[in-house]
Amino acid sequence: MAFPEKIGRYTIKAELGRGGMATVYHAFDPSFDREVAIKLLPREMMHDPQFRVRFEREIKMVAALEHPFIVPVYDVGDVDGQPYFVMRYMAGGSLSNLIEQGKVSIEDTARIIERIAQGLAYSHKKGIIHRDLKPDNILFDENDNPFISDFGIAKLKEAGGGLTGSGVIGTPAYMSPEQAQGSGDIDSRTDVYGLGVIIYQMLSGQQPYSADTPMGVVVKHITEPVPEILKLLPELPPEADAIIKTAMAKDREKRYPNTIELAKAMNKLAFGKEGDLTFGTDPSLKSRSEKITAQSPRVKTGVLIAGGVLLLSVLGVFLLRNQLFAPDPLSASDPPPSEAPAWTAASSPTATEQPAISFAPFCAEDVAFSVPQAQATNMVCTAKRPYTSVAITEGSTFEVLHPDGTCRIEATSRGNHVLSCTGPDFLVMELKVCNPPALSNDDLSQCSADATFNSENQCCVPVPPEDAGCIVIEVRLRGCN
Ligand SMILES: Nc1ncnc2c1ncn2[C@@H]1O[C@H](COP(=O)(O)OP(=O)(O)OP(=O)(O)O)[C@@H](O)[C@H]1O
Ligand SMILES: [Mg+2]
Repeated sequence: MAFPEKIGRYTIKAELGRGGMATVYHAFDPSFDREVAIKLLPREMMHDPQFRVRFEREIKMVAALEHPFIVPVYDVGDVDGQPYFVMRYMAGGSLSNLIEQGKVSIEDTARIIERIAQGLAYSHKKGIIHRDLKPDNILFDENDNPFISDFGIAKLKEAGGGLTGSGVIGTPAYMSPEQAQGSGDIDSRTDVYGLGVIIYQMLSGQQPYSADTPMGVVVKHITEPVPEILKLLPELPPEADAIIKTAMAKDREKRYPNTIELAKAMNKLAFGKEGDLTFGTDPSLKSRSEKITAQSPRVKTGVLIAGGVLLLSVLGVFLLRNQLFAPDPLSASDPPPSEAPAWTAASSPTATEQPAISFAPFCAEDVAFSVPQAQATNMVCTAKRPYTSVAITEGSTFEVLHPDGTCRIEATSRGNHVLSCTGPDFLVMELKVCNPPALSNDDLSQCSADATFNSENQCCVPVPPEDAGCIVIEVRLRGCN
């Protein structure tokens, strides 16, 4: 795969992989004679000057997280306006890779969670919530010690999405109900939930919720009770089920109050004692720990009876909160975006050549067709299939120009459709999106025989341009297998 030779002073050795929004490279830093990993973010993110300010502020906060169980960020910069940051190279792969090899024992799960929980407790103390905990973001060094990576990235994604109007959903499989519902008031307990999902997946080898589409998974996190891991694995001690259910309680008041308490419960289950979890923990956490024990949470029955109406409103809130769309669809009076390939009737006959009065006038040279809005947003994996969401204006038609790709309308909100596009891993497909037809031959009486009526601008077009009112965008799928 082609990759740049250099990024800043760093020599690129290989591409490590692509996530939902960035490409990560293995590189060499000649200044310090060491291997590093470089995350290169999308160029579009820097288009808004405000994003640069946010990016620098956010990445500084992340770089200030100095903890033995957090992947350190060494440097930040941009190449020709494309932002990147440099971090420690983690040679041991990710927790996803480990889970792919099979289920993880209770003991190993407890050991990994113990470290991750302490790194999280430290960042929570500093006011930083991870918000995108998942096995892909737990990386191992060459000695198989786990570290948390991608702190603050969820927030950056959100900022970038909000400013560009594209928006990002996040990672549905690990998202707490309050995060999925768009609560503005997310606290560190969203990370307790994420850890609970990870424990479920480590012990069972599969995610707790699966559905055909990312949106389906999100809805299950909000509405479905936590699945019983004992149904899958009856040989597990019942406490494992209680721990997962407490960590993943829909009501965050019923969760462990912090990640340390969750790790202690896992240690107790695995080794019969809570262990000493003192790296970066707040002393006040200790006093709270005595009060908390793992207990079977009672999922509110009200949650279970959420009907279609509630579900729709939840989805609506979810979509709004996550800024999946541009703030407002183009209204009829809005000018087309300047970068849009607007067609103009450049070859229109002059006024003197215009036909008799009974016909509409020919389009003036500067008459343009409005261009549809279409924006690919987040890329996720659900049930091992890649999905990319695309926001288009409601009423626009769409067509996938690739035999292996499909897109379907997943939801509609604020005058926009969200399309869920899928196909084989890493597929790059073209999607043609058109405004409702502005050119029509139906109303023949409006124009002379050799012209077509442009209903949008109420004038005649001599040569109907191919694809007027349409755009073609590239939709990329990520790799899941
Ligand atoms: N510091 C690192 N050292 C070594 N490999 C890394 C490092 N950071 C990321 N990677 C690898 O690079 C690939 C892409 O990572 P990235 O964080 O972009 O994606 P992700 O975590 O799967 O998704 P998301 O963008 O939703 O967080 C993954 O395979 C990951 O394991
Ligand atoms: Mg990551």
